[in-house]
Amino acid sequence: MNEKVIKVVVCSGTACYVMGGSELLLLGDHIPAKWKGNVELEGSPCLGYCKDKSNGKAPFALVDGELISQATIPDILRKIGEKLGER
Ligand code: FES
Repeated sequence: MNEKVIKVVVCSGTACYVMGGSELLLLGDHIPAKWKGNVELEGSPCLGYCKDKSNGKAPFALVDGELISQATIPDILRKIGEKLGER
């Protein structure tokens, strides 16, 4: 049993939202049952990353503090898996 809790922050600011962030907010429906106790999901107003092009493109999400640009649900799930040590 993995006791780790991975915090996932999905940006729901305007730039991210229009670039696909709205879909990311459905992430909760895609978390596998085995991870239910390991993932803390949060929506956030603009995280500020869209203001600087060097961060990549919207939508942005943070997985355990690690920035993902052009985030998709599979990208986020893959990163959570990595953080939980399931590669
Ligand atoms: S709207 Fe998402 S980082 Fe600004």
